[in-house]
Amino acid sequence: MGKLKVMTIFGTRPEAIKMAPLVKELESRPEFESYCCVTAQHRQMLDTVLDIFHIKPQFDLDIMEDRQTLSTITSKCLLGLEEVFQQVRPDLVLVHGDTSTTFAGALAAFYQQISVGHVEAGLRTGDKYSPFPEEMNRSMVGRLADLHFCPTETNRRNLAAEGIARGVFVTGNTVIDALGTTVRRDFQFTTPALNHLDYQEKKVIVVTCHRRENYGEPMEQIMNALRRLALAYENEIELVYPVHLSPVVQDSAHSHLDGLDNVHLVEPLTADEMHNLMARSYMVMTDSGGLQEEAPALGKPVLVLRRETERPEAVAAGTVRIAGTGELDIFAMASELIDSPAAYAVMARAVNPYGDGRACRRIADGILYYFGRTDRPPEMFKNR
Ligand code: UD1
Ligand code: UDP
Repeated sequence: MGKLKVMTIFGTRPEAIKMAPLVKELESRPEFESYCCVTAQHRQMLDTVLDIFHIKPQFDLDIMEDRQTLSTITSKCLLGLEEVFQQVRPDLVLVHGDTSTTFAGALAAFYQQISVGHVEAGLRTGDKYSPFPEEMNRSMVGRLADLHFCPTETNRRNLAAEGIARGVFVTGNTVIDALGTTVRRDFQFTTPALNHLDYQEKKVIVVTCHRRENYGEPMEQIMNALRRLALAYENEIELVYPVHLSPVVQDSAHSHLDGLDNVHLVEPLTADEMHNLMARSYMVMTDSGGLQEEAPALGKPVLVLRRETERPEAVAAGTVRIAGTGELDIFAMASELIDSPAAYAVMARAVNPYGDGRACRRIADGILYYFGRTDRPPEMFKNR
């Protein structure tokens, strides 16, 4: 029996961070011939992840444009991937999560009748436009995929409710595998501002914000809330905000937050810097998906700057709260966590509803099982 040709496809920062340990796992197993194709929907933010994890893709579509639209991303990926698939003819294509690269990757593979595996499958809000366009991307990939690697049991149930029950494995989230390789007690930051922060005496709050559905009024309100917090707690908190390279986000963050002494607007951090910064921080305020998974594992409270979340597990565990996108609501919830040690203690508990660091192993085992290379299905991840 020949080796299984498996091609991983990704294009943005979070996909890269979460696929990196899987690429390594596939490369280390003799049963696989592993190929990696990046669309480079993100350029700089992707390349730093490839560097950190020492990944050299065989294919790079280099599609990113300034202020790109959903249509340009999707169409450039579809055309580029058609050529790649004709060259390699993989047995299986693996896509991750819910970006435009994810959707186009699954669709391009389907057009060539190549099997599709969806990593981070089954997350849902039930609202077509929130997050936008991610909710529809992951739903459509759910229809296209043959293999579904769900981080949690909740995700598996979401798929079952849509009639998707074959080829489903509960594996944990690969981001917890990645986190296990990056966080170190003696870590030295290369971004100078981060080495000079007083993590003992000050409450360091990590902030990120980038989602398309927050563009406009919600982002205005979020930035106003951050400004209000910085001014109200001038001597108590330090806000560290690595600003996403999207020009929309850059404009919004700098126009509201420039010139405040306790707000540090820095370039996007490398994944290892970001993980170690969170590990030393007081709490996290974010609309990011990945941060909602990482911070609970590090015992840091999270305020989600969105109206809903597709990641209800840490909300149920009590370490994540939905703050919404209203200036006063965000300010009130953050103030409570800054002012009240009791409120803080309730949320600052390390929990791991998203994984145990063995997701990639289960995914590789699941692929072998699906292709009949082993009789034993992988053991499922259980959230304890
Ligand atoms: C994309 C994903 C989103 C994911 C996010 C992670 C889609 C539709 N959206 O959103 O699901 O949460 O990535 O960060 O797939 N840019 C650069 N350099 C970079 C990256 C981005 O200059 O390295 C700028 C470009 O001008 C680009 C813009 O940011 O046009 C927006 O990038 P895009 O991938 O379209 O959207 P994101 O908001 O990053
Ligand atoms: N991240 C990073 N540098 C930053 C901000 C985020 O490495 O400056 C990491 C973060 O730790 C997480 C991932 O990027 O692993 C989340 O990506 P993002 O917020 O862009 O996307 P989302 O998770 O919302 O899709």
